[in-house]
Amino acid sequence: MKIDPWSSTTYQDYTRLRDEFGIEEFSENLWKDLPKPHKLLRRGVIFGHRGFELITDSVKKNKPWAILTGLMPSGRMHLGHKMVIDEVIYYQTIGADINIAVADIEAFATRGYTLKETKEFAINEYIPNYIALGLNPEKCRIYFQSKLQEVKDLGYILGKKVNWSQMQATYGFNGQTNMAHIFSPLVQTGDILHVQLEKFGGSRPTLVPVGVDQDPHIRLSRDIAQAHRIYNVTFTKDEKIGVFVKVDEDISNLLDSAEKILNDLNFKKLKRITKYKAIYIEDAIEDDIQKIDENFAKMETKLEGYGFFQPSATFHRFMTGLTGEKMSSSKPESAIFLTDTPKDAIKKIMHSKTGGAVTLEEQKKHGGKPDECVVYELFLYHLIEDDKELEEIFTTCKGGNRTCGQCKKYAAELIEKLLEDISKKREQAKEKIKKFIS
Ligand code: TRP
Ligand code: SF4
Repeated sequence: MKIDPWSSTTYQDYTRLRDEFGIEEFSENLWKDLPKPHKLLRRGVIFGHRGFELITDSVKKNKPWAILTGLMPSGRMHLGHKMVIDEVIYYQTIGADINIAVADIEAFATRGYTLKETKEFAINEYIPNYIALGLNPEKCRIYFQSKLQEVKDLGYILGKKVNWSQMQATYGFNGQTNMAHIFSPLVQTGDILHVQLEKFGGSRPTLVPVGVDQDPHIRLSRDIAQAHRIYNVTFTKDEKIGVFVKVDEDISNLLDSAEKILNDLNFKKLKRITKYKAIYIEDAIEDDIQKIDENFAKMETKLEGYGFFQPSATFHRFMTGLTGEKMSSSKPESAIFLTDTPKDAIKKIMHSKTGGAVTLEEQKKHGGKPDECVVYELFLYHLIEDDKELEEIFTTCKGGNRTCGQCKKYAAELIEKLLEDISKKREQAKEKIKKFIS
């Protein structure tokens, strides 16, 4: 199995995806202590993560951290796209530094739009919707890939540590793939890692909230971040904690500096083995690794290294389209667009595929299947805030005490309110938008 970021595959079995690709489960202990956890976190819509512990830790200790996410400026924005930005808005309220990439180079390279067209999509469609949904534009940075020199430079330079076999194996590129497309994952790595450059806030934990189709890019940027470190702080095979120099020059000086840092951190039992380019820390425990690593990352930036933290990521499930297939801009009847009129949206809901039984009698007898129901998904992902109310719908459906007509009618009311609200705020946003785009 391969995850292809540019295909329209639908993913069904998220547990299998997690296991196969080494994505971690997004378990409760990661989010339960965050301030007012967002419904997408609480309800298992975000089903997996990489390295989220760093984020939990930063929030708890009030240390700086960043969000970097990207938008594909093509087509109309629908409810599936809304999820990432809902997440971003939540993180903005709990203190993250927000950065948003407009992936115009990627849209140009992989979808055949001109840069001018992508700009229109971003400015007329995506960004106004983001603001309408609640993003505070005064407290975030939105930029275009094609206009940010540091991002493109970083993509090019970091590419030194990736080779063609790796790109082929990860993305299935072949002799026919155009070079701009081949380069676009490195531009995305540039997006993800540039926020840790001094100029953009420096070395710090960075969270990239995405759909699981983006995992190949996440793996690539994590590998590249790691490959550019000077030191590696890790558990060894024989269960010791060690600091290893990863470069081949100036080793004894680097070990000296490492020793100094470890002394400052109050570790006393250090064993230096120059041949292994290593210092073993015999009085450290597993919980110390993160703290030690942070200190080394900071130091590396002073040695002309990057000192990158490996970027963290959350992965959300995809929304099922109202027709039962994937929600996709290219199939308007499958998606509710944020610019749909309430009338259009309600029509799609009324025609949608529910988890109800074939006849009303049967449904009364055996109940419906809310977990295979797109109307229930609308409630779960977007329309109902109150967990108790949602649970009530779930149990009455299962128990055969609810009809799909009832649900559709309620969903229609809620979507009408939502779309009207977004539409009003979107028009206001459009008026003041230009000044926020760098
Ligand atoms: N590739 C992403 C998409 O297809 C867009 C994107 C570009 C992105 N740069 C990013 C997403 C950085 C997350 C982080 O939607
Ligand atoms: Fe879905 Fe509601 Fe029908 Fe249950 S009753 S299957 S939740 S629409």
